[in-house]
Amino acid sequence: MTLPTSFTISDDEFTALRELIHQRFGIHLGDGKKALVIGRLQKILRQGGFSGFSDYYRFVVEETSGQGLSDLVNAISTNHTYFFREADHFTIFSQEVLPRCLERHAQDRDLRIWCAGCSSGEEAYVLAMLILEGLGRDHARWNAGLLATDISQKALAVAEAGIYPDERVQQIPAPLRTRYWQRLDDERWQASEALRREITFRRFNLMNDRFPFRKPFDVIFCRNVMIYFDQDTRQRLVQRFHDHTTSGGHLFIGHSESLGRDRCPYRYLRPAMYIKD
Ligand SMILES: C[S@@+](CC[C@H](N)C(=O)[O-])C[C@H]1O[C@@H](n2cnc3c(N)ncnc32)[C@H](O)[C@@H]1O
Repeated sequence: MTLPTSFTISDDEFTALRELIHQRFGIHLGDGKKALVIGRLQKILRQGGFSGFSDYYRFVVEETSGQGLSDLVNAISTNHTYFFREADHFTIFSQEVLPRCLERHAQDRDLRIWCAGCSSGEEAYVLAMLILEGLGRDHARWNAGLLATDISQKALAVAEAGIYPDERVQQIPAPLRTRYWQRLDDERWQASEALRREITFRRFNLMNDRFPFRKPFDVIFCRNVMIYFDQDTRQRLVQRFHDHTTSGGHLFIGHSESLGRDRCPYRYLRPAMYIKD
């Protein structure tokens, strides 16, 4: 059998695939995303020897290891991120939110922060540097947990290695770069072992109905993730975040996102920043 060198998708095939992606990952692909789906899945279809999108769809839904679904979301999701993206959030975090958390936990010295939808890790490494800076010498006496999760195994592999090209690492202010990063060669840097140790990277689908966390979080960053979700999915997710936030804890979302003030369980504080009363 000769396989096509480039694949086309029928309306029915597109509908089936986008329903699957929505149901499993909450990602909403509008009618205009047909070309994106074709473009991003070409390689998978070619390498997998599929005869077309129907053949590929059947494989993904019938395959039991979950690898097919994982490859699908890796290809579809947008992992764009960079160090100190939407930098004002990090200023507020280190100057206001973190000091308040440290006060609140002065007795138990137990701090919980979740970077949900961390992509290739840049956001989590910034938070980890700010936490280490905020705790200073007291760090050893604190149980400061930074959990960073994403659905994309590929993005998480980059995050866990903590290796980034020079031009990306140059976005980190020099004093922090010197303290927490090591040059590997002319082109790459790696997060120091001490910095990597601060973060637990895990694969986690935010669509899971149940969050398996025993303790509530003091701060949740979920920025530029919910833009891909429809209103209903977003609202249910925000409710689950709220259920897992401690009173007085914060939620940060992306600046281009909005939760709508009416049905939002958090109280709005500032653009893209909320608090649980
Ligand atoms: C554009 S990146 C945002 C990265 C970072 N938070 C930032 O603001 O720069 C969006 C991330 O959300 C992840 N994502 C999308 N759907 C998800 C889901 N259902 N569960 C977990 N992560 C998801 C994607 O894999 C991607 O890495």
